[in-house]
Amino acid sequence: MKYLVLVGACYLDTILTVPHFPSEDTKLRATSLTTRRGGNVPNTLEVLTQLAPSLQTHLITVLPSRSSPATTQILSSFSHSPPPDDPSPGTPHRIGTPNFSHCLYREAHTSPASSYIIRSSATGSRTIVNHNALEEMTTREFVHAADGILDGIEHKGDGVWWHFEGRIPETTLSCVRHVRRVAPASIVSVEVEKPLRDGLRELAAEADVVFYSRSWAESQGYANAEACLRGEAASSKASLLLCTWGSHGASAFSPSTNTCTTHAPSSDDIKVVDTIGAGDTFIAGMLYSLICHTPQAAKLRFAVELATAKVQREGFAGLSRSLDLEL
Ligand SMILES: *[C@@H]1O[C@H](CO)[C@@H](O)[C@H](O)[C@H]1NC(C)=O
Repeated sequence: MKYLVLVGACYLDTILTVPHFPSEDTKLRATSLTTRRGGNVPNTLEVLTQLAPSLQTHLITVLPSRSSPATTQILSSFSHSPPPDDPSPGTPHRIGTPNFSHCLYREAHTSPASSYIIRSSATGSRTIVNHNALEEMTTREFVHAADGILDGIEHKGDGVWWHFEGRIPETTLSCVRHVRRVAPASIVSVEVEKPLRDGLRELAAEADVVFYSRSWAESQGYANAEACLRGEAASSKASLLLCTWGSHGASAFSPSTNTCTTHAPSSDDIKVVDTIGAGDTFIAGMLYSLICHTPQAAKLRFAVELATAKVQREGFAGLSRSLDLEL
């Protein structure tokens, strides 16, 4: 499997770092302000371009007008240079280039979907407020994009991996059904993240691989990752279910063998500097391991260690180099 299509929203993140989380109706001076491209699926894609430069990736996402500065900034964010503190600047490091030809442009808009993130230095927490005026992708738009991607693939039997952010569950569900109909060799993964969003369980039921977030699991009353996976496996046809649990790492459940594996970060000396996108990095690590066929036992460990490396650095640049990529 050489093709991966990622479907989900793209945000521009404005990150305000504050000494501590403010209380309501008070004033506080931020210690820094940064903007960067965000969104779960684009974050996952950015990490994947480092891990698997030869994987052919397509991004289906809604963007403002083609000519807007925001669109230029977002698309160029995938071809960043290595971070300034890169320990081995002499070694060229190949980064894959995603195919953006099936992105959806909202020509009447110049502003992207935006996230305003308050990051507390005291705890490392990130509190997120979103605003998105762009109309969501419709099933029709997805069908057009998906058919265009499939037309460009010579050996359709190779199969395509489709990863969906579980955004608008009804739309995503009809997109998944379309893929199943027109490309039966496809593998579908979905992310179940937003707490209390209706329809995510129905969506998970149709996927081959499901990624649950801790916040979703807790919103359903689960006390740990294994409880979530065992509880949810009953209503899903998925062959693999995964759940991250913050500093406790993540768990994987295979219904066929009824086994649950947990991997916690192997180091206990972790200095958290940036948790934004840690879950997206975990997903990138798992997709990489699953698509590139690394040994079964190593997959979960690799994804957890990758996400652990992520929280100890700003952003995603140079992430794959921080790890020994031998699996
Ligand atoms: C992107 O994919 C389309 C098919 O969906 C193909 O026609 C086009 O050449 C690709 N672009 C690049 C830069 O590879």
